[in-house]
Amino acid sequence: MNTIQSDIKITKTKATKIHDVDFDNLNFGKVFSDHMLVCDYKNGKWQAPEIVPYQSLTLDPSAKIFHYGQSVFEGMKAYKDSYGSIFLFRPIENCKRLNISSKRLAIPELPEDYFMEGLKTLLKVDSDWIPTKEGSSLYIRPFVFASGNGFHASPADEYKFIICCAPSGAYFSGKVKVLIEEKYSRSANGGVGFAKAGGNYAGQFYPTQLAVEKGYQQVIWTDDTNHEYIEEAGAMNIFVRINDTLITGPTSDRILDGITRKSIIELAKSEGIPVEVRKITVSEVVEAAKNGSLKEMFGAGTAAVVSPISGFGYKNTDYALPELQDTYANYLKKRITDIQTNKSEDPFGWRYEVE
Ligand code: PLP
Ligand code: COI
Repeated sequence: MNTIQSDIKITKTKATKIHDVDFDNLNFGKVFSDHMLVCDYKNGKWQAPEIVPYQSLTLDPSAKIFHYGQSVFEGMKAYKDSYGSIFLFRPIENCKRLNISSKRLAIPELPEDYFMEGLKTLLKVDSDWIPTKEGSSLYIRPFVFASGNGFHASPADEYKFIICCAPSGAYFSGKVKVLIEEKYSRSANGGVGFAKAGGNYAGQFYPTQLAVEKGYQQVIWTDDTNHEYIEEAGAMNIFVRINDTLITGPTSDRILDGITRKSIIELAKSEGIPVEVRKITVSEVVEAAKNGSLKEMFGAGTAAVVSPISGFGYKNTDYALPELQDTYANYLKKRITDIQTNKSEDPFGWRYEVE
């Protein structure tokens, strides 16, 4: 493993864009901070990472990313508390998962300190870009892609690791109505569903467009064999509450091992909420909706945090979820965001201060 030998080289922008940004009305991932981290893989090794002004890239048209889709990414958030301290949430997990994804796509793994030191340096340089308004954060997008050239269908010999940041508001503006998928699949056994590979998302866009045309915002993916089990949402893991029990599917080759998902499982258990990690059949969810025992469904992910579902469609029928006063979704969302933003104790050791 190569390790960072010296301080990361920083080239600062000559003209900040920060004054053009309305921090009170942020969309998700639409404006980008002044700097980015760039690190090249060539001659068989990752080169020293650098911080440079945010800028466009120049790539050869034969770069393998364009043809064979070798690309993986992560999603993280940075928060700033009222004292100006900067926090991340379980960042080493993102670094490890980036390498799990890279390995599956035959992309060279990145040394952990390149990721962590690079990220921390970038956040310190762009610290003014971290929003403090409730519900906003600096969304961080680390990604690796094949920049090496050639039409041969084999792994590239050159890659780029980049981290860029977008001060962002909520991913969804309200509750989400979802469609349980009966035909298309997001992933398959032995495939790349567990990896955060760019192509996984491209493959979801068309079925999601069809769902949007029918009035839904997201697809709930089911297993590719018989579409019998509920697996995950487009950019979130999925939780179902039947009576008082919170249920989520087990991870597999087909499901992304979400950091929010595993945090919610631990949090809920520690609060005495009954939690089951087991396969969830579509038929039991439909049955529970019919008999009134289905209390809540919500998605969980970094961008979406905890996103309540208002109802679902399945086999041309819509099922509405009840409007509850006290929901697990709201409770767990508050618990997790209070930990993330340094508003509460962190008994799990998940919060990571950038010093
Ligand atoms: N599932 C998919 C397909 C995702 O894209 C995401 C988002 O990252 C998640 C689940 C949730 O993962 P995490 O909580 O680590 O962000
Ligand atoms: C995230 O939650 O960070 C993700 O990467 C999902 C993304 C597709 C917005």
